[in-house]
This record gives sequence, C-alpha cells and structure tokens, in this order.
Amino acid sequence: MSERIAHQGLRGKVMSADEASGFVKPGDQIGFSGFTGAGYPKVLPGAIAKRITEATDRGEEFRINVLTGASTAPELDAVLAETGGVNWRMPYQGDASMRRAINDGTSYYSDIHLSHSGQMTSQGFFGDVDVAIVEAVRIREDGSIVPSSSVGNSVNFLDAAKRIIIEINEWQSLGLEGMHDIWMPGIAPNRSIVPIENSGDRIGSGSIAIDPDKVVAIVNTNAPDRNSEFKPLDDDSKMIAGHLIDFLGNEVTQGRLPENLLPLQSGVGNIANAVLAGLLDSPFENLTSYTEVIQDGMVDLLDNGTMSVASATSFALSPTAAERMNDKAEDYAKKIILRPQEVSNAGEVIRRLGVISCNGLIEADIYGNVNSTHIMGTKMMNGIGGSGDFTRNAYISTFVSPSTAKGGDISAIVPMVSHVDHHEHDAMVIITEQGLADLRGLAPRQRSRVVIENCAHPDYKAALLEYVERAESSGQSGMHTPHDLREALGWHQRFVETGTMKA
Ligand code: COA
Repeated sequence: MSERIAHQGLRGKVMSADEASGFVKPGDQIGFSGFTGAGYPKVLPGAIAKRITEATDRGEEFRINVLTGASTAPELDAVLAETGGVNWRMPYQGDASMRRAINDGTSYYSDIHLSHSGQMTSQGFFGDVDVAIVEAVRIREDGSIVPSSSVGNSVNFLDAAKRIIIEINEWQSLGLEGMHDIWMPGIAPNRSIVPIENSGDRIGSGSIAIDPDKVVAIVNTNAPDRNSEFKPLDDDSKMIAGHLIDFLGNEVTQGRLPENLLPLQSGVGNIANAVLAGLLDSPFENLTSYTEVIQDGMVDLLDNGTMSVASATSFALSPTAAERMNDKAEDYAKKIILRPQEVSNAGEVIRRLGVISCNGLIEADIYGNVNSTHIMGTKMMNGIGGSGDFTRNAYISTFVSPSTAKGGDISAIVPMVSHVDHHEHDAMVIITEQGLADLRGLAPRQRSRVVIENCAHPDYKAALLEYVERAESSGQSGMHTPHDLREALGWHQRFVETGTMKA
C-alpha cells in the first residue's frame, strides 16, 4: 500500500469504508468519480447505502444528491438507488435500479450534456459539493491523485468539495499512470482555449492536484470495474456497420474526407460497438478517435493497428477487455489518452478536429429529429450523455439503430419523435439495417421520403408514407414540415394502449 500512497501525511488517513462513510451527512451533495462503469468508487457507495437504510429504518430522513461523470455500475448506482435515498442525480446513468427510481418519481434526474456538467458544478449552479469520493490508482508524493480507468468530472469535484475521500484500488494497474492528461479550461470569464489540434496531443499533467488538507479518509479496495458484456454481433448490427463504412468510403471518393477519415467518436451501447467491430474489416487505415469512451471495438482497432491513437475520458470495456487493458496498461498508455470530460467532450475541439460522430438512437422521425433518451416520451432510458456534445459540433453526425425494437412492435422511425434530443438541424445521417439516409442539404419534405424509403422497416413503410401523404394533402398543415397534429404521436399512444405500434 505504501507504494500506492507516496504522500507521507496521507498514510495516516487510511480507514475502513464503514468509518469513512461517517464523513457523509444527510442532505450532502456528493461528487463521485466514475464514467461508464470505469473508475467509480467500489465500496464507499455501499457503506453509505447501509447508513441510509439504517437511518431510514429508525425513521430518520437521510437523502443525498449524487453527481458523477456519467453512468457507473451496480456498486454505486444500484446500491444507492435501492435505498430510496437518492434525492437528485446528474448527469447520466444507465442502471436498472436508478432508472426505476427516476421513472417512479423517487429520484429527480437532471439529464445534462456531459461537457457541461463539470463546468456547471464548478460554477456553483448546483450549490456546494460537500464530499468528493474518487477512485485512484496512486497518490503521488505531492498529494496529487493519479485517477484510475476514467477521469470524468473528478477534477471539478475534487476542486469544489469541502471533504475528499479517496479509494485506492489495487486491482487497477499502476501502468495506468501516464495515460491521463489532466488539463482544465478554467471557469468563465477566464476560460482558456483548449490547445488540442490533434487527437493525440497531450496538454496537461498526469495527476490531479488537490489540497491534501481536505482529505478526510483513504480506503483500500481491490475490485474490478464492472461493465456488462456487449451483445454478440448480429446481422442487423453488421448491416448497419456496412452502410456506414460504404458511406464513409464514398465521402473519401468525393473528396470530402481524407483517406484515413477524420477522428471518430463512437457512442455507448451495443450498436456503436458493433460499428467499431465493422471497421476492423474495412479498408481504412491509420484511423484516429476523439471520443468519450473506449469500448472493446476500439481496443481491437488499436491492437490490429487500424487505429493509431484514441482520446477519451474513460473506458467502457467488457470484463475480458478490462483485464486485457489492466495487463498491458503501460503499452496502451502510448496510444490512449484519458482526459477530463470537459476536454474530451469540448465542442470547440470536436469542431476543430472535424470529428465524425456515431451515436445510438431510440427513435428518429421522418424529418430527422432524434430521441436518444425517452421511451414513449415519458420514461427515461439512460440520458443524453455526450451525444449532444458530439452531434452538435461534428463534421458529420451519424445515428445508428435497428429499424424496430421489442420484436418488431416498435418502429424506430416514427411520424414525430416523442422527445427531442437532437434536432433536424444537427442530425445529418440516419442508419438502420435497412439502409442509410443522408439528410445533408435536404428540406423536410425531401427528408421524409429518404428516411422512410431508406431506413424504415418494411412493416411500417406503407403506414409512414400514408401518414406523410395525408399530412401534405390535408390542406390544414403548413407545407414546410407537414404533420397531422392529431395523429403525430398516435403510434406511441397505440403502443401504450395495445403493446404494439402496428395498426
Ligand atoms: N422503444 C423502446 N425501447 C427501445 C427503443 C424504442 N424505440 N429503441 C431501443 N429500445 C431498447 C432496446 O429494446 C434495448 O432494450 P433491452 O436492453 O431491454 O434489450 C435497449 O433499448 C438498447 O437498445 P439497443 O438496440 O441494444 O441499442 P444500444 O445498446 O446501442 O442503445 C441507446 C441505444 C439509444 C439506448 C443508447 O445508445 C443511449 O443510451 N444513447 C444516449 C446516450 C449516448 O448517445 N451516449 C453516447 C455519447 S458519447
């Protein structure tokens, strides 16, 4: 342990998780490290959950606000959500229990662009941060913290917090030291230009400077990051990847992209990971990425040399790939850079580098508006995550999804989306297993035909065409974006009432 805590004065702060949880008080606002199942504290959330449950059993009120980088894992989101003690959560989650707490009204949820969330914390938009609980690989001699498998919002939380608790996780490889690039733009009105001109640029230091006097406890852990395995590649995802790769090849032919493309961003989820797997067999070489998470597919691209460098804020690796990363972290540190999410997701850099974004969608409408977050307009799935940061600023923004969900009872292409995360002004390309709709330069009435023709499932094509033709000929609708307002959300209502969108 002493090699992991090099700061003499902090060695005396080591204690058990139960003892450390005593520094968390009812009503506290807690900034946890963690981003997409990587680098989150493994034991403190459970110890806090125990105290919340004991207090609740005694009839006392004990609720907390939970801030993270993005989603975490059951050891954080689920254990806390299941106590009913999470009052407010930001900025992203992907956990079944937390989702339930949000959707049944137990917990408030602010679904925030990931690049904004740290800045908003630092600017004080959410009030004080009482405690920062951060996982680290090591504490250096100067007291600075070497983060583990994600950086996320940890710098903002450590700066803002009144008290700091550090979990030193011995499962995390010491080889991660050297992978991080810690640099922050500062807060308005003195925010700096982010001086990144290539994905691989390093602009900061390898550890997070903190005030050691704020550290109240250090807890030793030895537990793996926990992400779910990705779903095996199916025919639909292979077809989606194929459409995207053909499209990118054509952009190269047309002279709109260089031969090694531009830096790629790949979103969370199975489909985005499948697209990366598709690139393994593509003709492209010397690819780069400027993204937020490094998934299995991206590690494979780095391993076989198709990709030369990957910049992100976190890993989102299956357990097998996470073990591989841990074994060879020192080697990977030459090709992988982990940055604070204010930098990995900075609109300014994404626009400068000309990133090609690729994110999943829940539904898109015939005019190219995209819903990434809400099921049937009212229930939260995960959150917008970084998809808005990248889509808004991308050189080419793409969205991928199977054309149907839930065994075909839901069409991913609908007359009108039931919630808008990315609007028609930002979404450029929509891809399903059926085909690809390139919406650049098309007016809404042109878009509707391309989206229906190229992306909708055959079971829903005729009904979508019938809808749009009726809207256009009704005489009641404007002809810029024709709709039948009484029926625009009728497909969703039908699903809620009957369990299928089919008439
Ligand atoms: N209605 C209801 N459920 C739907 C649906 C729809 N229109 N579309 C998808 N789903 C369900 C699927 O059935 C599946 O459910 P299951 O887990 O019970 O099988 C689940 O959503 C995931 O869908 P899947 O097709 O496997 O895609 P995915 O894993 O790629 O996830 C999103 C798709 C949209 C949920 C995911 O990409 C996401 O959360 N995006 C928002 C955040 C984001 O883009 N972050 C990246 C920024 S870098």
